Amino acid sequence: MEIMVKSGDILGEPADLAVLASPEEVALPAAVAELIEGADFRGKAKQTRLIYPRGAVAPRRLLLLGLGKPDKLSADTLRQAAATAVRQAQELQVARLTFGLNGDLDLAPERIGQALAEGFELGAYRFQRYRSDLSDEQRFVVEGATIVASAEALRAGVAIGQTIARGANFARDLVNTPPNDLPPARLADQALALGQRLGLNVTVLDRARLVEGGFGGVLAVGQGSANEPRFIVMEYGAANQGAPTICLVGKGLTFDSGGLSLKPADAMTTMKSDMSGAAAVLGALQVAAELQLPLHVVGIIPAVENMPGGAAFRPDDVITTLSGKTVEVLNTDAEGRIVLADGLHYAQRYKPDAIIELSTLTGAIVIALGSHAIGMMATNQELADRIARAGEASGERVWQLPLWDEYREMIKSEIADMKNIGGRPAGSITAAAFLANFVGDYPFVHLDIAGTAFAEKPARSYDAPGATGVGVRLLSEVLRSYGTPG
Ligand code: BES
Ligand code: ZN
Ligand code: ZN
Repeated sequence: MEIMVKSGDILGEPADLAVLASPEEVALPAAVAELIEGADFRGKAKQTRLIYPRGAVAPRRLLLLGLGKPDKLSADTLRQAAATAVRQAQELQVARLTFGLNGDLDLAPERIGQALAEGFELGAYRFQRYRSDLSDEQRFVVEGATIVASAEALRAGVAIGQTIARGANFARDLVNTPPNDLPPARLADQALALGQRLGLNVTVLDRARLVEGGFGGVLAVGQGSANEPRFIVMEYGAANQGAPTICLVGKGLTFDSGGLSLKPADAMTTMKSDMSGAAAVLGALQVAAELQLPLHVVGIIPAVENMPGGAAFRPDDVITTLSGKTVEVLNTDAEGRIVLADGLHYAQRYKPDAIIELSTLTGAIVIALGSHAIGMMATNQELADRIARAGEASGERVWQLPLWDEYREMIKSEIADMKNIGGRPAGSITAAAFLANFVGDYPFVHLDIAGTAFAEKPARSYDAPGATGVGVRLLSEVLRSYGTPG
């Protein structure tokens, strides 16, 4: 979508649809107040009124959009407002809309521009690739949005927000793509194509290379599928001398049937989304490269399909991971941590300043936090705090759980260095405790996105049924925070 910023007065600009977003308790412009009955629009959160002014003001249609109480207003309020605006344009088949804010907001202009651009792009997203039955109306595309505002500083924010949201939409496409069309090799092709386009170094290890290299975790989980695993490494900014090195590790289970510890049918649907961590890493690398961030970012993705084929790994197996540490398998559905063990160990070769890992790792985090927060566990509080701040800024909020030594006791095994499950109590934390065995002393944060990656019933205006693209906005803010002090 084309997003522009223009100074002026939204009521004086001709438009097929003008959207005026207004907080509660802020008086409407007189020309608008005259068009409605006093109490019909008060700016309450998510309130909308569509007006046909018939020449009273320049726009042909005017959508009033409530932003709620000023003290509760955040960047996410604006993100959602912009998404509502673009969806209204889609519904009305209006190709271009104008958008204005009523009154001054307590947010930096750059943040306002960024949030609005993100909202427009995220709100316009639809996944229609597999639909041959759609009407022209359903395919209608909103081409452009013009933000009518005085602040020049908005413009820089718009460019950043647009780049970030496109990264998120790229991740959504990958997650929404059905697993028969995105086996590990095809996910690797996506990484290679991204690398081509943006000048990243991309290395893909196939099965033979994995055997040679001793990637025992990836190989074990992948051995029950006819679609062989891949190990993907992507590097941005290797030439940025002296810049911090950040390793992003993403769980890339292109499908998780559970393996021999087979999932029940109802739990197996949506498991194409088990590569959402990988998608977030790909999206974040796209953003880092497009924004030319002064960093060295390494994306590491074990891409694997977990299937119960005749050669599948079994409960009772003991496997030797890339690190040399052994794992007693008690449940083949706890497979993410096994492939991540190899991914995290591999990250150590970059001597990173931070290892940030994202995975749809546990059903337990869905129970704990639902779809409103990412679960966070960390070995380094400074890094955790940085991510928590980025969570607030991006609207992809995280909530930290403890990672005390006691939890590590829960995954000790009699016959191997550790076992791959710790029982039902603290399921998300024991999973993190398992992962922490493979990061050495490097600052490490684990983000469990099982509750936030895929929305069967979207909770926010800019979400759509299916993939949310979670992680891309969060990681983008984290990466950007290294370039800006505070
Ligand atoms: N991919 C699943 C976790 C998941 C659950 C993601 C729901 C998204 C929505 C993971 O591989 C898994 O199956 N975890 C098991 C672990 C258990 C066997 C210890 C789980 O959470 O049930
Ligand atoms: Zn599983
Ligand atoms: Zn899984």
